[in-house]
Amino acid sequence: MRTWPHNVVAFGGDYNPEQWSRQTWTQDVELMARAGVTFVSLGVFSWSFLQPAPGAFEFAWLDEVMDLLGEAGIAVDLATATASPPPWLSQAHPETLPMTREGVRLHPGSRQAWCPSSPVFTGYAVALTEQLARRYHEHPALAMWHVSNEYGCHHLPCYCATCDAGFRAWLQRRYGDLETLNEAWGTAFWSQRRTAWEQVETPKATPAQPNPTQALDFWRYGSDALLAQYIAERDVLRRHSPGVPVTTNFMTMDHFRLLDYVRWAPEVDVVSTDHYVVHQPRDASADPRADPVAEQSFAGDLTRGLAGGAPWVLMEHSSSATNWQPVNRAKPAGAMLRDSLTHVAHGADTVGFFQWRASRAGAEKFHSALLPHAGPDTARFAEACELGAVCGRLGELTGSRVRAQVALVWDYVSARACAQDAHPSSAVDAGQVAHDLHAALRAAGITVDVLPPGADLGRYAVVLVPTLYLCTQETADSVAAAAHAGAQVLITYFSGIVDEAVHVGLGGYPAVFRNLLGVRVEEFFPLLPGEQVALDDGTTGTLWSEHLREGDAAVLARYATGPLAGSPALTRRVVGAGAAWYVSTRLDRDGVAALLDQVCRAAGVGAPVPSAPGLEVLQRVSDEESPAALWTFLINHGDSAVPITLSGHDLVRDRPVQGTWDLPAGAVAVVREA
Ligand code: GAL
Repeated sequence: MRTWPHNVVAFGGDYNPEQWSRQTWTQDVELMARAGVTFVSLGVFSWSFLQPAPGAFEFAWLDEVMDLLGEAGIAVDLATATASPPPWLSQAHPETLPMTREGVRLHPGSRQAWCPSSPVFTGYAVALTEQLARRYHEHPALAMWHVSNEYGCHHLPCYCATCDAGFRAWLQRRYGDLETLNEAWGTAFWSQRRTAWEQVETPKATPAQPNPTQALDFWRYGSDALLAQYIAERDVLRRHSPGVPVTTNFMTMDHFRLLDYVRWAPEVDVVSTDHYVVHQPRDASADPRADPVAEQSFAGDLTRGLAGGAPWVLMEHSSSATNWQPVNRAKPAGAMLRDSLTHVAHGADTVGFFQWRASRAGAEKFHSALLPHAGPDTARFAEACELGAVCGRLGELTGSRVRAQVALVWDYVSARACAQDAHPSSAVDAGQVAHDLHAALRAAGITVDVLPPGADLGRYAVVLVPTLYLCTQETADSVAAAAHAGAQVLITYFSGIVDEAVHVGLGGYPAVFRNLLGVRVEEFFPLLPGEQVALDDGTTGTLWSEHLREGDAAVLARYATGPLAGSPALTRRVVGAGAAWYVSTRLDRDGVAALLDQVCRAAGVGAPVPSAPGLEVLQRVSDEESPAALWTFLINHGDSAVPITLSGHDLVRDRPVQGTWDLPAGAVAVVREA
């Protein structure tokens, strides 16, 4: 066993040697050395090659590959290979296949065709994991274990009978008795009262809106069921292979909201994630998530928050095009390096790709790789080699942490609940609100830690609470405590509306934040698509407005048009050493920027380097040295050069920089400050 590469930013990706001949393996390892690859994730989809039949195992080929990689000094993130069951398993146990809401049993023939609740599947997965752990726990190439792959990507939610039983058992643990469940689910509404546990099922297709608490609990259950499967494999690895870190790759991209990673993160030894650039047909001026650069930055800040601020592993991204979007755009020259270093700027110490060598066959044959179909004599492979060299030079900053003074509270459960139907407006999306704030700060050069509820907010100068629709009293208390301790807290519309059971807090919204904010919302006035309201400070609101009654808060802006003309839109209340701000509408882009500018000024927070269009700036700090070492990442996502005034050594181009110099369009500099 060896340690994860730490004297370099680890660089590599998924390696699927079972798709290739032995001769190719030798060439692969030579080319990996040429590119500066320091790790691979091995065997992610190898189950049918490791276990061709129940009880029959074939490890000779994997022994050979492990030895080859070990001799080349390449660290292996060895997969438990349980992401995709072999056809014989599905045939012998059709009950392990997932089922749709309409009761259709899905078939094998693609991947991840297994039911999240199936003990039969877990039994086989754990048995294979045990074989692998026993065989390879002392192998000199082994540096990390990779359990399964992207849990939840294709097989959630599942509505089979095993899930009905699993959900029921989960509910019995959560609520104890039926009376408590009836209360939590609000079953007095629409005659849904359950009188026996047999009447409690997964939320299948219904004639009208399903029970929202049942639906949210089922989402929680799906995440927990898969987490239990992960833990079953992890515990086998920990038993047979102590000391080797265990991870599973999350998907912290905006569109993936199927798991509650806040519950998963404490169960992995190191947080790892996958990120793919998605080209949206939407207009980025209407929704910042449509800007791939903004979305990528948010994902990095969220991953770091899940990792508790510690460095994380970017397990997969792409060297160029994906194959699963309507149009799969190739990355322009330089984007591979820029995307990779953007992740490092946000706290990654590993830069991984799907995959090492582009497949010839199968559903992903047109997905890019480090080594393209055209071979090593290509611009893409030359870029991979360049990235490998840069990752080597960045080794000095591994272990350092990203510096941020702004926290943004992000909760998967709340976002999920907020997206439920039969709400005042189906256009309110917690992700969009969070991105509105995050994108504005990013443009201003200010770094944000995206944190789960319950995280320690005590050290932040600014705390943002974007549309935290579902908010527990505990979370509300921690936000209030941060304001009392001196933070400028900004809460946006439709926050603090319901509790864990999705029951509305009474007495005026937002029940849990009313005292802190010094305001009381009497009624929501959502806006139609295209409708706008003017505020008397010159900004405009869209999407949402609220009939707000001021208490002891100062009114910073009022509605100037529409049915709410004259009533408060934006307020601020001084609280202890800090303040609590409330905004009751979706401000236009300039309005968000101006508001955050005021909030940050009040907190004394500014950008480390003057902001410029297209420029992204982050800093990583290592307190292992005294004085602490500081690396400033300057990423030019724009189309023209940006003048930078900063002195030190640029690790990307490996040369000193001094005074004022130009950062070319598309370029990245990582400056160790003098
Ligand atoms: C990920 C997955 C990889 C590969 C990749 C393609 O979701 O983990 O196995 O499918 O996407 O973009």
